[in-house]
Amino acid sequence: MRRETSNSPRGLTVWLTGLPSSGKTTLGRKIAQRLLDDDEAVELLDGDSIRAKIGRNLGFSREDREDNLRRISFVADLLARNGIHVVVAAISPYAALRQEIRNQLDPFVEVFVNAPLAVCEQRDVKGLYRRCRNGEIRGLTGVDDIYEAPTSPEVECHTDIETVEESVEKVLAAVRVRRAHDLAESKCS
Ligand code: ADX
Repeated sequence: MRRETSNSPRGLTVWLTGLPSSGKTTLGRKIAQRLLDDDEAVELLDGDSIRAKIGRNLGFSREDREDNLRRISFVADLLARNGIHVVVAAISPYAALRQEIRNQLDPFVEVFVNAPLAVCEQRDVKGLYRRCRNGEIRGLTGVDDIYEAPTSPEVECHTDIETVEESVEKVLAAVRVRRAHDLAESKCS
């Protein structure tokens, strides 16, 4: 429960969405580290580790993915309302659900971690694309399951042509813009 007397601002949520192997976890870790380096309170919620801890009963049907993302959003809200910034790295394939989450977690910075499917497949960090192409698994996002790309994210990182540092800087710049905007608004009210 949040202390009634607390007047610290809500934490900001940076939500990284993109195909498997697009670079969400890499960017998420670096962004969280940079915020920590600036003495900010921050937590990283990564789809894989959240699934391992509080989503072990969930698979990859639409219903299960939505459940997974709502759980992540719930945890993010608990943190954010106590002034902790949250960096989420999760495929989050559905536009409507991302919109629902955005409405809950304002201030919210959506980051589209974008790399062509062919590039993600070549990276294949966890071997999932190979296993899907071999028929060992089904329902892999981007191959035989839907990914609805964001149409107006605050930031789009092209991880096939930008360096990790360039992408991180773009995200941190958007975070600074959002926080400056919120600060200006709070002074007016
Ligand atoms: S989401 O769709 O619910 O947002 P999330 O990011 O939490 O996905 O989890 C995706 C992770 O689960 C991938 O990084 C991968 O390690 C693993 N995974 C296993 N099977 C699949 C699949 N069919 N589609 C996507 N990810 C899968």
